[in-house]
Amino acid sequence: MTQDELFKVLVAHCKEYGFIFPSSEIYDGLAAVYDYGQMGVELKNNIKKYWWDAMNRLHENIVGIDAAVFMHPNTWVASGHVAAFNDPLIDNRDSKKRYRADNLIEDYLGKIEEKIEKEVEKGRKRFGESFDEAKFRETNPNVLREKARYDEIHERYKKAEETNNFDEYKQIILDCGIVCSISGTKNWTDVRQFNLMFSTQFGSTGEGADKVYLRPETAQCIFVDYINVQKTGRMKIPFGISQIGKAFRNEVVARQFIFRMREFEQMEMEFFCKPGTEMEWFAYWKEERMKWHKALGFGDDNYRFHDHEKLAHYANAATDIEFRFPFGFKELEGIHSRTDFDLGNHQKLSGRNLQYFDPETGEKYTPYCVETSIGVDRMFLTVLSHAYTQEELENGESRVVLRIPAALAPVKVAVLPLLKNDERLTGMAQEIMKDLRYDFACQYEEKDTIGRRYRRQDAIGTPFCVTVDHDSLEDGCVTLRDRDTMAQERVPVAELRARIDAKVNLTNLLRKL
Ligand code: GAP
Repeated sequence: MTQDELFKVLVAHCKEYGFIFPSSEIYDGLAAVYDYGQMGVELKNNIKKYWWDAMNRLHENIVGIDAAVFMHPNTWVASGHVAAFNDPLIDNRDSKKRYRADNLIEDYLGKIEEKIEKEVEKGRKRFGESFDEAKFRETNPNVLREKARYDEIHERYKKAEETNNFDEYKQIILDCGIVCSISGTKNWTDVRQFNLMFSTQFGSTGEGADKVYLRPETAQCIFVDYINVQKTGRMKIPFGISQIGKAFRNEVVARQFIFRMREFEQMEMEFFCKPGTEMEWFAYWKEERMKWHKALGFGDDNYRFHDHEKLAHYANAATDIEFRFPFGFKELEGIHSRTDFDLGNHQKLSGRNLQYFDPETGEKYTPYCVETSIGVDRMFLTVLSHAYTQEELENGESRVVLRIPAALAPVKVAVLPLLKNDERLTGMAQEIMKDLRYDFACQYEEKDTIGRRYRRQDAIGTPFCVTVDHDSLEDGCVTLRDRDTMAQERVPVAELRARIDAKVNLTNLLRKL
């Protein structure tokens, strides 16, 4: 199965097992908006708890907030979003389909790269063991021609990006002969700016002040609340403020399922430090966040840093943690050293003093800030795309299993009476479930054969199944089945809690950090 096909199967699986549904599906859905179903919400909450506890419990100098989605409109003037949170748009006149001009060019560049790689692969096959890749890349005429084409377009594109030259964007698209994937034509409109913020009307607060935005990031709430938290929490620099919450962006091209959505959730932390120390903290948070990802055991090779060459005007260092999604390495989390840009601008526009007074040195300054920012939904996709596995079993059967880290699994234990029409078995199973549910998310299932029930639990990633059979009535033991190994073990009911807890407790994951 290709990665593309696998991704489609994963999307279908998410719907079939109650993880994610298209929003308002009975009305044919709403583009790039999704609902989390009964399984999805549990997994999502577990991901959030892993992040929240790692930030707030394991760092004495980080506290959390939960701010409103609506904010004073000046927030977005100060942050620069009103002026500059834009994407370059282009329409195809024949299909009426809208694209991001930068994406069209980047996809085109990506295709040239693919061609080069294919050429190299051909060489590798042709020359076998004697293949010298570096030499081949330097001398093969096809590779050299494509590389020269790539460099020329790339350079023009980067210049156009730096100078916001939209005429040049369009010219590149025309010169490269890029066509609309629907109409197949080059009948393009001019490129224009499109602000990604959603706006709405807010009460009747007077002229000009009634247009508010749905926040496009949660970070600004933290900057605006910074002084309240610092004073009421008597926080000493360096310290951090974390938040999990919804964000909204009118993405021009929203695709790849929950990778790019119009309504999504972010987990952001702003770490305030003394100017001049920000690079140390930037390095610290890079390492800290990578540790958090790697502790999940998805394979260290599936992560990489992508340091930004071109920095946003407010940043003096920036990197992305990229994950190998089924559609390639893509940004999962951003870590930015944002200087005093945000606090400084809010200070200017609000007229409030947001300076920090250092009681030890007597200094006053506007703190610098290092930000870590990750999308909950993108993290959800990371977990599921790594967890989804199709397996051929030794007995010739196959199974789909979600190998979700046990601490994040939506259901921790399923309790299953072997037969549904024997009240002694169902009664004992229900008793066990009623007891376990105080500690773990449990499911009780009695319908279908035991084999089918195991498959259903595998498909939602339940780490343990507990089966009650006739022997259980005699010896007080049950069968404990492990999702990953499928090993089955007889365990006294009294030992169940400890056995399950040892594997599913979030503490185990947090202790790895
Ligand atoms: N405060 C900084 C900030 O918002 P960003 O790179 O625009 O930076 C941070 O977003 C993270 O939020 C991304 O790394 C990604 O995980 C997530 N994210 C951004 N836009 C998203 C979208 N449209 N859909 C889903 N997740 C998104």
